Amino acid sequence: SGEPVVLGIETSCDETGVGIVRGRTLLANVIASSMDEHARYGGVVPEIAARAHLEALQPTLDAALAEAGLALDDVDAIAVTSGPGLAGALMVGVGAAKALALGAGKPLYAVNHLVGHVGADVLRDDGSAIELPTIALLVSGGHTSLLHVRDLLDDVELLGETIDDAAGEAFDKVARLLGLPYPGGPQIDRVAASGDPAAIRFARGLTLPKDLERHRYDFSFSGLKTAVARHVEKLEAAGAEVPTADVAASFREAVVDVLLTKAVAACRDLGVPRLLLGGGVVANARVREVAASRCAEAGIALRIPPLSLCTDNGAMIAALGAELVARGRPASPLSFGADSTLPV
Ligand code: KG4
Ligand code: ZN
Repeated sequence: SGEPVVLGIETSCDETGVGIVRGRTLLANVIASSMDEHARYGGVVPEIAARAHLEALQPTLDAALAEAGLALDDVDAIAVTSGPGLAGALMVGVGAAKALALGAGKPLYAVNHLVGHVGADVLRDDGSAIELPTIALLVSGGHTSLLHVRDLLDDVELLGETIDDAAGEAFDKVARLLGLPYPGGPQIDRVAASGDPAAIRFARGLTLPKDLERHRYDFSFSGLKTAVARHVEKLEAAGAEVPTADVAASFREAVVDVLLTKAVAACRDLGVPRLLLGGGVVANARVREVAASRCAEAGIALRIPPLSLCTDNGAMIAALGAELVARGRPASPLSFGADSTLPV
């Protein structure tokens, strides 16, 4: 067919991702993660992530081409995440993509990571197409952002984002203070299953009337993390046992409540009855439950791509690249660089 074959490279955080698409069809999606190397530090260490990308890129690229049954020559264009993300990590991907594009004589497209998360949705194989406009809630270890997407390439507006920790980062930090291993999200999810979400009423960040004027769609999780720490410290100082399951469940409830309250508010305020979720925190069982019930109540169509497309991956970057090629957009000049704070 005439649809462009695009190879996408993603290295903005700790996942080295190479994906290949033909138009909106997924051909390959290979991911190498340096997560294990960060475990002993309780969070992603930028320097370690960058070095790991350097080692993983070539094998990941080879594996993706093998999975698609293609040679680099069969690819029509290359797309790469140019930001936002960790500067050193991004540089490895951008440098590699430029070398590949130059060497193979292929056009190169710089892609925004956050928009990539939205673009991932076009690769679902259930035959349903993404409907625009949509509100998108992207929650991972590196970002917590609320977007208004009217057009994938030309009209993505950032409504709000975290002013401190990302939601996944909060899960990781709270897990650590509860003595649970990294990454903390799945651990909190597991422990919270047997806890009471109403046991402790932790404050919801940026939800007070005075916050809503300036920070209606912004998030804050560092105060919540501190509140959990204080709660645990107080119990320990009193020689009492820490009810880990209740703390985990109550913390998770506070995070999920804020995420979905703000996402649903955005849908209502802007008259957009569609919500798309993306990012690794979408794996959270409670996020999925509360998203489903609140959206059903509010008459909002909820879309959650399969988890392999929600976590950081190269296929979503390739998908946006294919969209750019399909719409006849010019390739990016090779002078572009990695931009850790690239706006949408
Ligand atoms: O999208 P992702 O794989 O990439 C990075 O941000 O690097 O997201 C990873 C983040 C981690 O912070 C992890 O703790 C969190 O997503 N996470 C979860 C769950 N599974 C992963 N958070 C809450 N509940 C989960 N089940
Ligand atoms: Zn991401």
